[in-house]
Amino acid sequence: MSVARWNKRKIIAPREAAGEQQLKATLSWPHLLAMGVGAIVGTGILTLIGVGAGKAGPAVILSFVIAGLICACAALAYAEMATMYPGSGSAYTYTYAVIGELAAWVIGWSLILEYSLVVSAVAVGWSGYAAPLLQGTLGIPMSLMQGPELGGLVNLPAIFIIGVVATLLLLGTRESATLNALLVLVKIVALIVFVAVALPYFNADNLHPFAPNGFAKSTGPDGVERGVMAAAAIIFFAFYGFDAIATAAEETRKPQRDLPIAIVGSMVACVIIYVAVAAAAVGALPYTSFASSPEPLALILRELNQPGAATFLAGSAVIALPTVILAFLYGQSRIFFAMARDGLLPASLARLSSRGSPVRITIFTAVIVGVIAGVFPLDEIAALANAGTLAAFAAVALCMILMRRRAPDQPRAFATPLPWLVGGIAIAGCAYLFLSLPAQTQLYFMLWNGLGIGIYLLVTMMMKPQADVQG
Ligand code: ALA
Repeated sequence: MSVARWNKRKIIAPREAAGEQQLKATLSWPHLLAMGVGAIVGTGILTLIGVGAGKAGPAVILSFVIAGLICACAALAYAEMATMYPGSGSAYTYTYAVIGELAAWVIGWSLILEYSLVVSAVAVGWSGYAAPLLQGTLGIPMSLMQGPELGGLVNLPAIFIIGVVATLLLLGTRESATLNALLVLVKIVALIVFVAVALPYFNADNLHPFAPNGFAKSTGPDGVERGVMAAAAIIFFAFYGFDAIATAAEETRKPQRDLPIAIVGSMVACVIIYVAVAAAAVGALPYTSFASSPEPLALILRELNQPGAATFLAGSAVIALPTVILAFLYGQSRIFFAMARDGLLPASLARLSSRGSPVRITIFTAVIVGVIAGVFPLDEIAALANAGTLAAFAAVALCMILMRRRAPDQPRAFATPLPWLVGGIAIAGCAYLFLSLPAQTQLYFMLWNGLGIGIYLLVTMMMKPQADVQG
């Protein structure tokens, strides 16, 4: 079967895209690996580990393993699709090519939810760590460092950090990626220090009872959803980010070699680090003592009478969390870029500057996520970001399986091992995690996609008479 037959739609192949719409290829796998780990390790392990422990108890270790396994299966499907379609739009691009425009619109819409809410959530999380320092040194009142729901006016530090990261991106990908690599190192060292300091205090008594709230999601009398799976659905936030690498495919020198190394490598590294951190955390203290802390890992170190290590960890979080914002803001601007280039968003948005960055889209994205970060609270944002991500991951695994059926002999630079099993686990796992999210999050996700489909139908209806005239 010809490529043209199984490509449902003619998308602009990135290497064919003309002149000002062609992104520069400047990156190779060490940059991408750093970008992947930089995007993955963040608020999830630093903050949501506490929320997860509150829902699952010490069995949060199991939640990490489950969420990591599902994410790893999705990562393998991503690596295969990213090398077949090295375009800017990640899951949006694959869905457009394999399934069609409406499905691609829905996935693009879900990706917008993922990328923008991760940027906003991590910026608010960063602000949480930075606010006490800013108050102490510059005397900024707390009312200007918290959103309205926490009794403040606006979260200025969150807006500030998004502005700084957006400026880095506008200065050029290469420069930002190199700085990113340095900050990733800071983050990894901080987590290694945590494990090294906390592990000697491991006490098996702290692991009993192991799963006090059971396995499946169940709602308590207080209306809060708990259980190992409810925790896994939130902890899932800690694992994604490798997909941001796929959005850099067009700017990669050898995407066929570099993308699989970076995607699979960053995933494996993070699973190992997280399980070590989770085991050290729940082994060192009873989980109830840090479950509701906004800085659980630093709190554990302080409780263990290690204030120096606690300060180092907190300082590292403030310095290094922006790497997550960088990777997701980068990915978001590239997804908008791909959608604009395919004609689903205004084409003028896709114009590149002389430095090769999509300036308008980067600024547009930064303003939107800045407003969200300035006004909305952190809780719920992560869960809704997860909903969008789960939809995108399931779609990528489905695309991988469909392509195996439609074009089994098509050469693949990276082929997922046991594709039916791995793809099946990714799709079923994402569905189960979605069902394990809070009911309110599921409702908001449906409303967001209902809005998206409404806009799509409106736009296509308005464009149809023109197409008829031209036809
Ligand atoms: N995985 C990223 C984090 O945990 C989104 O912050």
